[in-house]
Amino acid sequence: MTAKLLSVNVGMPKDVSWQGRTVHTGVWKHPVTGPRLVRRLNVDGDGQGDLQGHGGEQRAVLVYQIESYAHWQEHFGRSDFEYGQFGENFTVDGLPDDEVCVGDRYRIGEAEFEVTQPRVTCYRVGMRLGEPELPALLVSHHRPGFYLRVITEGVVRAGDAIVKTRTGPGALSVADIDALLYLPGRDPDKLRRALAIPALSPGWQQSFRDMATAAGPAGAAEAGPRAEAWPGFRPLRVTGLVHETPSVLSVELEAADGGALPAAEAGQYLTLRVGGAGDPPPVRSYSLSSAPGASAYRVSVKREEHGLVSRYLHAGLRVGAVLEVAAPRGDFVLVPGDGPVVLVSAGVGATPVMAMLHRLAAERTARPVWWIHAARNRSEHLFAQEAHALLRDLPEAHEHIFYTAKNGATGDGSSDSGDGVRAEVHRGRPGLESMAGLGLPAEASAYLCGPAPFMDAMRATLTTIGLADDRIHTELFGALAAINPGLTARPAVAPHQPPGEPGTGPLITFARSGLSVRWSPRHRSVLDLADACDVQTRWSCRTGVCHTCTTPLLAGDVAYAPDPLEPPPAGEVLICCATPRHDLVLDL
Ligand SMILES: Cc1cc2nc3c(=O)[nH]c(=O)nc-3n(C[C@H](O)[C@H](O)[C@H](O)COP(=O)(O)OP(=O)(O)OC[C@H]3O[C@@H](n4cnc5c(N)ncnc54)[C@H](O)[C@@H]3O)c2cc1C
Ligand code: FES
Repeated sequence: MTAKLLSVNVGMPKDVSWQGRTVHTGVWKHPVTGPRLVRRLNVDGDGQGDLQGHGGEQRAVLVYQIESYAHWQEHFGRSDFEYGQFGENFTVDGLPDDEVCVGDRYRIGEAEFEVTQPRVTCYRVGMRLGEPELPALLVSHHRPGFYLRVITEGVVRAGDAIVKTRTGPGALSVADIDALLYLPGRDPDKLRRALAIPALSPGWQQSFRDMATAAGPAGAAEAGPRAEAWPGFRPLRVTGLVHETPSVLSVELEAADGGALPAAEAGQYLTLRVGGAGDPPPVRSYSLSSAPGASAYRVSVKREEHGLVSRYLHAGLRVGAVLEVAAPRGDFVLVPGDGPVVLVSAGVGATPVMAMLHRLAAERTARPVWWIHAARNRSEHLFAQEAHALLRDLPEAHEHIFYTAKNGATGDGSSDSGDGVRAEVHRGRPGLESMAGLGLPAEASAYLCGPAPFMDAMRATLTTIGLADDRIHTELFGALAAINPGLTARPAVAPHQPPGEPGTGPLITFARSGLSVRWSPRHRSVLDLADACDVQTRWSCRTGVCHTCTTPLLAGDVAYAPDPLEPPPAGEVLICCATPRHDLVLDL
């Protein structure tokens, strides 16, 4: 049977209210009559609200077949669907997802098209249908639909025949490729075949390349989840307190039972539940500043003017006190290699890179190391002697200190030689001009930690100097940047208790946001609760498919509804479809 174009559907993006927020979306498409010109980027009169996820050359035209309409009408017991209901531009008779292959070409009317990728799972199609679980169902029922690239622009109209002009190499159907990305039990052979299809869109190619690296013997150890040293929180005793600078206190911690502590990776952080600082006990994270193999852990805490926990630790903590501590975790760790390493920090952001420097010094690394630190002035210069002593023992080390406060530098441009290492002292911030003069090698890997604006500026500076963006690693002392596709921007709001009656269920602690909230079953998921609290969140499908919402779970246990199509790694949780079984502590 010849496939046929049943309807051409278009729609421009508009603002739609959704769960108290506004979504800018082009998912509402409506049929047009008569001929329509299809251009390289769009069908005339059509548009997308969020070009990160939809549209562009590789995703110019979305296709969905009428056979799937019938399937979903039966599944949901509905009969109210109209053409364009699934956000598609072309509603077609024929071209099933399990027969159409990526790379196939089709002529429709005057235009010619090439299949580039399956539909990206996203909550907006569920929103359009009023069926929030639809994104997961599109994948699990193997009916995602697919995108076309426009090879030849031209006019199409409803009723046009669809003629295949070329079969894609690799013989991998849209349903196969979709399952390869989203479903467990991947076939490595199919992964290799997918990567060999030139027509597959660059975004999907990259995802498959990442998967292939993670699955390979070299990538397995690096990319796999890091084993937790202990589950939940355990008591650690304070064995030492050191005032490093007027505003930073180092806290040494050993196992309360005297046992050995597992080694952390250089750059990881601990999460502390601080009983004395409030009720419920507030939870905060602190990077380890100690040598990874040391017998005690050390964290170094800056006293924040109005900070609940940092002020308590500075004023109230005594040697002998016991703190509840979650195991070291975090992905901001030194990547093995033998190229140059650039460690850049500002203020208390020196903590994780200090641990990295300890690690490099303990290995007596032959790698050239740059230590670049910005402090307000000499008295606020954290780990000044400790870092200098470690650098002194390395064969190729460069130390650059920037004193940023007016009158902050004493001895601008001076070098503390005499012990082999020149510590160059600069006045002002480490801007492009001064950084460009340091002779950083373009092949270096860089590790940055400091306030968000400092890291943004430093990343831009380093890439301008010539360092590769994917070798620049960052650690942020706060909530990670949100991923909320399609939501219109609004002023930042500090995390708060949710509106309405307080819940009475398990206690949910969002550690990065410094907030603890009682669960109430009126929230569909932990993600819904986080949204209601204006906790910064990251998500896309909101139904357990895309793993964008994966969040480290420091303590507690969750139930899933719906079940994720592929479970998250151990110690992590997909918050979009999780509800708490017990109290939870989340790295969010
Ligand atoms: C992975 C990670 C690693 C970290 N590592 C470190 C580290 O090594 N060292 C370190 O010091 N910190 C680190 N932090 C930050 C740390 O977790 C805490 O966020 C920090 O100590 C502040 O906590 P707090 O309870 O003192 O402040 P909070 O009470 O949580 O307040 C947060 C901020 O709001 C301000 N604030 C609060 N109330 C008011 C008010 N009424 N008016 C004006 N401002 C107000 C405070 O001054 C503070 O800056 C890290 C965070 C993460 C996520
Ligand atoms: S947002 Fe996609 S899995 Fe949670």
